[in-house]
Amino acid sequence: MKKVYIETHGCQMNVHDSEKAAFSLQSAGYEQTSDPMKADLVMLNTCMVRDKPEQKVFRRIAGIKHDQKKMNGKIADFGVMGCVAQAEAERIFDRSSDVKIVIGTQSIGKLPDLLTQLNQGFDRVIDVDLTRDAEFFDLDVNARKTEHVALVTITEGCNKFCSYCIVPFTRGRERSRTAQSILLESQSLAAQGFKEIHLLGQNVNSYGLSGKFRGNIPSASAPLIDNEVTFSQLLELLAKESGIPRIKYSTSYPRDFDQEVVRVMDNHENLCEWVHLPAQSGSDRILKRMRRGYSAAEYLKKIEIIRSAKKEYSITGDIIIGFPGETEEDFLETMRLVAEVEYDGLFLFNYSARPKTAAMAYEDSMPESLKTERLMRVQELQGRIQVNNNERYLGRTEEVLIDATSSKSQDDFSGYSKAHKKINFPKSDAKLGELVKVLITKSGKNSLFGEIVKY
Ligand code: 5AD
Ligand code: SF4
Repeated sequence: MKKVYIETHGCQMNVHDSEKAAFSLQSAGYEQTSDPMKADLVMLNTCMVRDKPEQKVFRRIAGIKHDQKKMNGKIADFGVMGCVAQAEAERIFDRSSDVKIVIGTQSIGKLPDLLTQLNQGFDRVIDVDLTRDAEFFDLDVNARKTEHVALVTITEGCNKFCSYCIVPFTRGRERSRTAQSILLESQSLAAQGFKEIHLLGQNVNSYGLSGKFRGNIPSASAPLIDNEVTFSQLLELLAKESGIPRIKYSTSYPRDFDQEVVRVMDNHENLCEWVHLPAQSGSDRILKRMRRGYSAAEYLKKIEIIRSAKKEYSITGDIIIGFPGETEEDFLETMRLVAEVEYDGLFLFNYSARPKTAAMAYEDSMPESLKTERLMRVQELQGRIQVNNNERYLGRTEEVLIDATSSKSQDDFSGYSKAHKKINFPKSDAKLGELVKVLITKSGKNSLFGEIVKY
């Protein structure tokens, strides 16, 4: 068998795309290797949502090529996939003569066809079609990178066009996968022993409101269903019928997030107590320029729905700092929002202008140093909030899915609770992939520490 090395940068969706590529390449006779020196094919899967990775891709290709030449004299074929491939398309060939394959975000299933064309003597092959019906994959377990938590796509693309965001241009219009095929994949993951699934979509709350996935590669067992299912109905279906002990999902979109989702989550033990609900800003003026479609007060109403639920949920979010035109007063409104929500975790990003987006029309004139200074002010506030929030867990017993040895100590395991809190604890006789009960004895800013009380 030939060997493929896939390197992934970016979010979980990219990680999952790499799994799909690995799966798709199996049928073309490729198995995965974690060593680029052994690879016949090197695929770089890169993200453009915030980074400017174009340079990096070409440097990485040159680096791997150089090492391969030195070590074994043989050079792999190189391929670029992900946002960069989608956005740069043919231009990638102009930049590097080593790249033989460029494959867009909605074309992963076409990889075997492209490889066939390459073998037939084509110099370079490309597929960056964004208009075809999205594909979904019944991944077999060998293609999965994650061992204990399985990633499951429920929607692809996005129709929101927030003014800063490149995603609608790199992943195309939003399409929802049929509930039936999501259920079948989840049931098969449960049968394979997965304890947790993570449902993925740019805006999970608009699940079912846009076109259905039609493609199915390779021919799958999932029959298509015609009746529409909303996101909360999908959650309920999976809670009742998937057999998966823990179900998490991201990302929620504030305007579309509703009471019904919380009601369903409240009613099912296996729907986990965590909501990722990005605000992006606390200033109405900036939210408007971002085209987010809600005000800070409307966002806080959604938070109130979660806070007044039956179960206790942890809430995480994303904030962009230094969006064009952000004044100190706008920024202070973001600080107030962060203080009010008391997030359990917050991802903070300096604004970075992205090609094709509407915000390109605004001048991005704020010095990076000021963005970073503001970012650090939010970080400091958020740090204090997290210390406080995490203290709540002292003395509680939390269910943890063990997924790794702790990065801090070989003697400890690490995993996540249902509220998506990172928890470390001494290994004792437990094993990776098990669900255990851990009594929390110490709390910190970014993680909790405890000891196993029950298997
Ligand atoms: N600049 C900075 N952050 C961005 N994000 C998306 N686009 C940009 C950009 N141009 C952030 C948003 C989003 C997360 C996935 O990435 O906060 O929620
Ligand atoms: Fe980007 Fe907005 Fe869509 Fe999220 S909802 S992917 S930020 S356009």
